[in-house]
Amino acid sequence: MIPSTSSRASRPQPLTPDAIRSGLKTERFGRTLHLYDRIESTNAVALALAEQGAAEGTVILADSQTQGRGRMGRRWISPPNVNLYVSIILRPDRDPDRIGLWTLSAAVGAARAIEQAAALPARLKWPNDVLIHHKKISGLLLESAIQGGEIKHLVLGIGLNVNLFRELLPESLRDSVTSLREELGHELDRIELLQRLLEQLELQYQSFRTEPLHKILEAYVPLSDTLGQTVRVRSPGGEWTGKATGLTADGDLIVQRTDGREKVFRSGDVIHVRPSHAARD
Ligand code: BTN
Repeated sequence: MIPSTSSRASRPQPLTPDAIRSGLKTERFGRTLHLYDRIESTNAVALALAEQGAAEGTVILADSQTQGRGRMGRRWISPPNVNLYVSIILRPDRDPDRIGLWTLSAAVGAARAIEQAAALPARLKWPNDVLIHHKKISGLLLESAIQGGEIKHLVLGIGLNVNLFRELLPESLRDSVTSLREELGHELDRIELLQRLLEQLELQYQSFRTEPLHKILEAYVPLSDTLGQTVRVRSPGGEWTGKATGLTADGDLIVQRTDGREKVFRSGDVIHVRPSHAARD
């Protein structure tokens, strides 16, 4: 249950296409922009538009979502006036088996945008959560349409908590989730942050399309808060606790137990096992 928007969120800054485009230094990302006050899910709309042939780089943005989707079938809390809920349509000419690397790369872009716009040290929880001071501030959700062994289109969805007050979150999330407003102690311009986000994501996407894929890992690893940690991974195959020792060439997570046995995860729910601050979704 989401409480109604807090009266403490003063003078919410309206998102308008003109304000977003002015000062946006991208070639394609956001040049076509669909902006909604309130929709079910920007990812759902983006998937429908992609199916109808919308151009690569088309951005779907909403001020609020009624059924924001998270990873593993979870819900993404999407109240109005405070955050960013963005989806981008993509058509990379890459092997579908490599798209996990794109989410890692996109997480690097989100972290860099936050550092640029808010001067906060963003870190990454595998596979694609962005953390500030060990708390989740942003999550990425990649949805794909694959046909005949090829990518038809991808939709990258990003939720970023900007001016959200922690009290708007369910109590169960208040210790593990944060917003830029909570970390900085003041509000942040959502439009400027969105512009930096689209610019950084476009840069990452250009690298993903053109550079050798090991470059993605080279950019991701220094930002990782997961590698070297003791982690608990929940996956359809069960639960596994051990040390996150590395990533495979495809960006899968390698976890080694104390008895030396290793497991490789392509997806899953990771909890950083730390007594004082365990980051979780
Ligand atoms: C996660 O579980 O961490 C991923 C959350 C992704 C949320 C974003 S908000 C914009 C886009 N639309 C959705 O319905 N989900 C993604």
